[in-house]
Amino acid sequence: MRFKSLIMAAIGTCLSLSAMAAPVTIKFSHVVAENTPKGQMAIKFKELVESRLPGKVEVKVFPNSQLFGDDNVLEAMLLGDVQMAAPSLSKFDNYTKKLQIFDLPFLFKDMGSVERFQNSASGQKLLGSLEKKGLVGLGYLHNGLKQLSANSPIASPSDIAGKKFRIQTSDVLAAQFEAVKAVPVKKPFSEVFTLLQTKAIDGQENTWSNIYSKKFFEVQDYITESNHGLLDYLVVTSKEFWMGLDDDTRKVIKSSLDEAIAHGNKIAAQKADSDKQAIIASGRTKVSQLSDAERQAWVKAMKPVWKKFESEIGADMIEAAEASNQ
Ligand code: LMR
Repeated sequence: MRFKSLIMAAIGTCLSLSAMAAPVTIKFSHVVAENTPKGQMAIKFKELVESRLPGKVEVKVFPNSQLFGDDNVLEAMLLGDVQMAAPSLSKFDNYTKKLQIFDLPFLFKDMGSVERFQNSASGQKLLGSLEKKGLVGLGYLHNGLKQLSANSPIASPSDIAGKKFRIQTSDVLAAQFEAVKAVPVKKPFSEVFTLLQTKAIDGQENTWSNIYSKKFFEVQDYITESNHGLLDYLVVTSKEFWMGLDDDTRKVIKSSLDEAIAHGNKIAAQKADSDKQAIIASGRTKVSQLSDAERQAWVKAMKPVWKKFESEIGADMIEAAEASNQ
């Protein structure tokens, strides 16, 4: 009898300990402002997860490179110091060459094409390209197409010859600027404003929402609506963290993330227009469009970059991406 009550007491203690168990913490680190597609997606994700798994999972969002920059966040993730991030697809060169496809200049006609490709069997296959490195691709998130900005007007490729352009850590992007004889400089996002302000660099490429939210337009006299490349994201976690969750928790986190991504994508589409309009309305910079002939000159100069990376990316992948333009 005494033995039985001891067992019952032990079980009771275990139960109350597990009820009090500390929640799983997801640190979500990113580099952009909160009023961006990624910033809003992360906030939505936190709201959904915490309302569906109260007391079980907490999400701490760190925007503006507060916790890690994109240059060290994946290393930190593998060490368990951060559980989720959504670096741009241009920042995975050290982990896989397959995602380089998203940097090929003038590959996607518009965001509809990007969406079709990402949802296709080929696009979905790419989500698994980091697995050997211990990372899990959970989904794509849009930001949008990139524009060129500089201290001097940009209409033809020769306008940027010899000029220093900040790029993300991607060899394709380096080749893209070298193809027009500009000088690519790989730098973290957190340094771009100061580099532009001090004129240490002449220009950069980014989306309307990043140019607006980080005020690049206030320190660049000219922006050309070139839509020459894509800046989208891959939401990632580590395999160790992901597989360490119980099945039910993992399912709820994944479905919450899918909803948060859909929310972020809607914001991305809105901001591509509203942030552009806000930049024009500010009068701080001159925004111009390319004529068809000017655009063709950029395509002609930059497209040879595709061939250079074809063997690493795979010709079949490039074909599948091109097919999404129809
Ligand atoms: C950049 O470095 O320009 C972007 O990748 C920043 C971001 O996360 O949108």
